[in-house]
Amino acid sequence: MQNKYHLQCKQCNYITPNLEAWFEQGQKCPKCHSKWSEAWYESDYKQLLELIKTPAKSLWHYFPFLPLMSEKHIISKNEGTVPIERWTFLEEFAKKQYGLNINVHVCRNDLNGGTGTFKDLGGTMAASVFSEIGIKQYCIASTGNSATAYSKYLSLANISCSVFMPKDTIKASEATISACGQQVFRVMGDYAKAKEIAADYSKAHNIPMSIGNVDPIRVEAKKTMVFEWLRQMDKFPDVYIQSVSGGTGPIAIDKGVREASTVFPELKNPRMLLVQSSGCDPMVQAWGKAESEGFPEGFEKVYPIIENPKTDVPTLATGHPYNYPILAKLVKNSGGSFVRMQESKLVPVGKLVAYEQGVLLGPASVVCVAGFFNALKENLIKNGETVLLNTGEGINRAPEFLQQMVYTTRDVHHVEECSPHSIDDFRAQLWEDAVMR
Ligand SMILES: Cc1ncc(COP(=O)(O)O)c(C=O)c1O
Ligand SMILES: [Zn+2]
Repeated sequence: MQNKYHLQCKQCNYITPNLEAWFEQGQKCPKCHSKWSEAWYESDYKQLLELIKTPAKSLWHYFPFLPLMSEKHIISKNEGTVPIERWTFLEEFAKKQYGLNINVHVCRNDLNGGTGTFKDLGGTMAASVFSEIGIKQYCIASTGNSATAYSKYLSLANISCSVFMPKDTIKASEATISACGQQVFRVMGDYAKAKEIAADYSKAHNIPMSIGNVDPIRVEAKKTMVFEWLRQMDKFPDVYIQSVSGGTGPIAIDKGVREASTVFPELKNPRMLLVQSSGCDPMVQAWGKAESEGFPEGFEKVYPIIENPKTDVPTLATGHPYNYPILAKLVKNSGGSFVRMQESKLVPVGKLVAYEQGVLLGPASVVCVAGFFNALKENLIKNGETVLLNTGEGINRAPEFLQQMVYTTRDVHHVEECSPHSIDDFRAQLWEDAVMR
């Protein structure tokens, strides 16, 4: 027994004493079978007031509020505390085009030390917890980034991980997992099919499997985003923009805000603008329908399922949006919305960000920036607001995407064919392609 934290079932309030017991009971509530339990801490939240004043190397800075008993089990690659940048070119655009004075901040998860994605937060938490409680085998179904992060961190902890990926997963993700010595099973089907086979494998071999977006391990890792905003930003964001797949991000933010509000009673969720690409947008479709009907009672339970989605962003290809009922309520209560971006804008927006900011984003991150432009167009951002974009990955996730960004090359045979250019000459066209057309 211990008393640092416990887990509480969201449905029936059943208390599970710790993660060891949680795994023993099959990662679910033994009373009502819900998979959604939340961790709550005995630690005094006054400590948080101190922690947000001091430099942090990783999310383990918030150790008193994380479900690990001993710091000696931490397996970290300095993740979860990436510097939040200010992107003034987006502010200038909002001012020029819409007359809005806004602050635009970007949390660049490509700077995380593990695999350079948003998923490194869950990776460090899983590897550390599993080391502590003695899990030696694990399995996960993933569209790419989660499995990549888990594979790397679990290999650092000498834990074996079996990964089930949909057929269309990006090759670079598969290669990273394989290179770490973890087993890849490429499932001939979509993400839902990969999850189904993984679940059967988990049962057949009695190997614990990631339970998805409400997994307390992932939620507890990602809730530290909120603590980092308090630590790094002068003003808590009014608007939060993220590309969404399964929805751990928003679920974790809501959890982090509820925890931090113990010492910041005024704190509330930012307006959540969750972006999906046109190739796989079941949540945007569901939201659009609900909005047109005036959000009738039970609107959050109505959503389409897209089988075998055809998309250039396989990382976000959750065609069956299991958690839409949770997310739709969260988004509605925050005053936010779901936003669609057209996949034809992926390369143009990626090129624009590289040109204006010198940052090469992966496609799932470009979805987020394109969502910002569409949010402006749809009047979802107000004057004076602080906006935070959470970009989940860099270009190393998608070398094929990078290769589509070539646009200045000229094939030449003689020096006479070569003349200097002015870098400014590209600007107008890039903006035109990214946002005007
Ligand atoms: C780069 C990136 N951004 C955003 C997301 C969305 O995360 P979630 O929907 O779980 O909050 C993912 C998930 O796969 C991702 O890999
Ligand atoms: Zn329960």
